[in-house]
Amino acid sequence: MSELTGEHFRRCCVATPPDLADALVQVLGDAPNLRWLEPCVGQGALLEALQRAGVARERIRGLDLDPMSGPADHLANVSRGTEFLTWARATHERFDRVVANPPYISLARAPKVARDRALELRFRRITFDRRANCWAVFLVSSVKLLREGGSLAFLLPAAWEYAAYADKLRRGIGRWFSSVRVVRSREPMCDNVRDANVVLIATGYKRASATVQRVEVKDVREAIAALTLRHTGPTRRLPIRPRVAPGTELGEILKVRIGTVTGDASVFLLTEEDRLKHRIPEAALRRVVTRARQIKKPWLVRSDWELLKRRRERVWLFAPHSDDLLNAEVATYINECSPVVNKTAYKISRREAWYRLPTLPKADVFVSGMSKLGPVLCLNRMRGLTATNTLYVGQFEGNPKLEERAAWAVAFLSSTARRALSRIARQYPEGLMKVEPGDLMRIRIPTPVRREGALGAYEHAMDVFTTQGSGAASKIADAWLLGT
Ligand SMILES: C[S@@+](CC[C@H](N)C(=O)[O-])C[C@H]1O[C@@H](n2cnc3c(N)ncnc32)[C@H](O)[C@@H]1O
Repeated sequence: MSELTGEHFRRCCVATPPDLADALVQVLGDAPNLRWLEPCVGQGALLEALQRAGVARERIRGLDLDPMSGPADHLANVSRGTEFLTWARATHERFDRVVANPPYISLARAPKVARDRALELRFRRITFDRRANCWAVFLVSSVKLLREGGSLAFLLPAAWEYAAYADKLRRGIGRWFSSVRVVRSREPMCDNVRDANVVLIATGYKRASATVQRVEVKDVREAIAALTLRHTGPTRRLPIRPRVAPGTELGEILKVRIGTVTGDASVFLLTEEDRLKHRIPEAALRRVVTRARQIKKPWLVRSDWELLKRRRERVWLFAPHSDDLLNAEVATYINECSPVVNKTAYKISRREAWYRLPTLPKADVFVSGMSKLGPVLCLNRMRGLTATNTLYVGQFEGNPKLEERAAWAVAFLSSTARRALSRIARQYPEGLMKVEPGDLMRIRIPTPVRREGALGAYEHAMDVFTTQGSGAASKIADAWLLGT
């Protein structure tokens, strides 16, 4: 457990609003002797709702990885410092109700103990790899702990609707429960978090008759109304990926941020000639792109970067590790640059040593914040390539496969996305438009319902984008998204 820090808990702990917590408890319903599980109690919003609903402490089991006790721990039998997935595998306890707002952390970034248990988990034909997210594993582990006839209510991210790692789970859940309801809110349901916007209610475990309803609402208020109103209309099976998919905010699937800030490009960025002249080993450098024109393509592969290198562009970023400082040429370069580097630059002045850059961001896509035709996603297909702060870099949630990334890139070219962009972009002289990373992530784009052929479609659409402009490219993107 030594690797766990307070950051692990804070990062994933967003409290459920009290009204929503009440609705989750109410929709599951209680009866004397029913046993409840809250697998990650946090500060206890759901325990408080259970207390308000009159559920006795003795009937509620609570856990949390965070060893610090919380204000509502006395309302249940709470085990702190307990990793849920490990506990779930070993326990003989079974439950009639599970209510949860689980952590939304990708397994790759989850504490090792949780990741190891997640990778071992088997249920029906479901398994997970490192690209999956804790919420999905919590959900499957909870299903395994239910008694026959049991029910669960989970607050989930929008990824419930499209994440590839949850495909089998989405498909299966309708078969395991007699009723499944999905309430999707277009706006986040919790403060300070953009992701929490699906409520999943599954009732009647192992009493399968597999009806699934999906309701789309505006916000948490409407979600509560939808949950607490008894559904009387006809129910339907939920398609695995809805044909008329609701839009997705770009930030739900892609975290966009500014590239590495060097503070002084004149010493940090080098051409191949500079590198050879100073005899700096490649290990002390990182391969970068630094200009909007370098990323005007559907994707970048190694040969694209090699071409930039041959064209004498500044494609190397000086980023020595501690070991590299032992190299005589690296040490000489640092000594030569020390008197000339702009040490008063804000970013440099805050560093321990001027040449120690912060951790360089992994780049799945490159984006230019300033452009004439509007930003597009340039997919990074070269290992280790990153960008400096003249560009933005984006990281996909859940590490999707290349075809899926391309499908999102097509969706970003769609007419819906372009209209949203034109509403938020700032217009500059000479027809340039500027979009900040935060604004980009708020853009709602169509959720692609297919991935096959996305790379080809994106290549074609980007070709049209550069030769005929944004409008013509959007038509191609729209047609592909509609499957025509
Ligand atoms: C979103 S918060 C839960 C908030 C609370 N249940 C509520 O509804 O307000 C997620 C909680 O999961 C806990 N957590 C994260 N990983 C866990 C794990 N593997 N096992 C148990 N708890 C975990 C965190 O410490 C955090 O308190």
